[in-house]
Amino acid sequence: MSPDASHGEAGANAQWGGRFSAGPAAVMAEINASIGFDRRLWRQDIRGSLAHAAMLARIGVLSAEDAAAIAGGLAAIGEEIAAGRFDFSTDLEDIHMNIEARLTARIGEAGRRLHTARSRNDQVATDFRLWVRDAIDGLDGQTVALMRALATRAAEHAADPMPGFTHLQTAQPVTFGHHLLAYVEMLARDRGRLADCRRRMNECPLGSAALAGTSFPIDRAMTAAALGFDRPTANSLDAVSDRDFALEFLSAGAIAAMHLSRLAEEIVIWCSAPYGFIRLSDAYTTGSSIMPQKRNPDAAELVRAKTGRITGALVGLLTVMKGLPLAYAKDMQEDKQPVFDAADAWALSLAAMEGMVRDLVPDTARMRAQAGAGFATATDLADWLVRAGLPFRDAHHVTGRLVAAAERRGVDLAGLSLDEMRAVEPRITADVYSVLTVEASVASR
Ligand code: ARG
Repeated sequence: MSPDASHGEAGANAQWGGRFSAGPAAVMAEINASIGFDRRLWRQDIRGSLAHAAMLARIGVLSAEDAAAIAGGLAAIGEEIAAGRFDFSTDLEDIHMNIEARLTARIGEAGRRLHTARSRNDQVATDFRLWVRDAIDGLDGQTVALMRALATRAAEHAADPMPGFTHLQTAQPVTFGHHLLAYVEMLARDRGRLADCRRRMNECPLGSAALAGTSFPIDRAMTAAALGFDRPTANSLDAVSDRDFALEFLSAGAIAAMHLSRLAEEIVIWCSAPYGFIRLSDAYTTGSSIMPQKRNPDAAELVRAKTGRITGALVGLLTVMKGLPLAYAKDMQEDKQPVFDAADAWALSLAAMEGMVRDLVPDTARMRAQAGAGFATATDLADWLVRAGLPFRDAHHVTGRLVAAAERRGVDLAGLSLDEMRAVEPRITADVYSVLTVEASVASR
């Protein structure tokens, strides 16, 4: 960093280097710096500093002129960063000190007053909460968009039969719409987890300072309200060392990614040639460099894989936090990359899934044909036998024998003659054929 003759020895950090006579080793600077990734917090850092400075002015710790200079300087820095004109410095470690140093360079001494009654510990805890809260709001909107896409396709195919599976074996006929709506339910629960996380995390750490609070008569309700928090946090030690909000966000993400990976896997299966249930659009498939006929569902495969990154982020941060004594420790600087990476992967997965769902073209005739294969209406036959007076266990057994007879003859259940059926169970009448079609099976449920 640039030596600052009036505030510390040459080479020592201008923000905290008062008691140091030399700067850090290159490796120390490298391992210590977070600016390479925490620059993503710049908007939140500026928002937090604006709220803090306004509060300091209100309680008379900052003069009105200094507060105005700080607000103007921070706004100008925001424009510099947004325009890509800001020179981020590794020597200044992190986003907080980069912005503060730039503020002082622009407005002079008032910039050096901003950090009164604050520590980077409550500052980063506040910035990161604001970032996660913004991410939650964005992901919630994307989840709604995917739910809408699924519901739209489900409405189009509300009456189109497809085979329902258990154990990936043909089980009973369902409809394509019914199947797609199952994912809408999962996504609704994902939204619930995001909302729950947001509600619990929406408290403002500002005022906790390093760990023990501050002797200045700060107005914590004012900063909390200015930043859209419901209230200030209750315990300063907890507030600077709590990363539950990031962990809850990641666990919600791990579950959501798991849901997306299941739909992705179904898409991969459905668009394979032996299934042929759907065709993905050109926009969401890729070709092979050697096999000209290939249409690979790469987007679905990558959504399926992203769950590994997101779950990995959760396990990684849980491991960072495990066993940390109160209050802040630098370990916690390792909280940001997994959260940023997981949020990016989650957002990209939702966007790719929405595009695939909107574009996919189901082969309804093929799904209909497969819905009737594999004796899929056997349960309907058993239910008919129950209505004819058999106990369900007997009906199940009789149906099993009829399935075996059909299999021997190479026909489906409706392909057995009434005589063949009555040879197995004499109480069967011609009415049984009315429940053996896919349409009757679906309509009955
Ligand atoms: N860059 C730091 C982090 O992300 C900010 C807090 C630093 N606090 C400290 N006491 N050194 O955690």
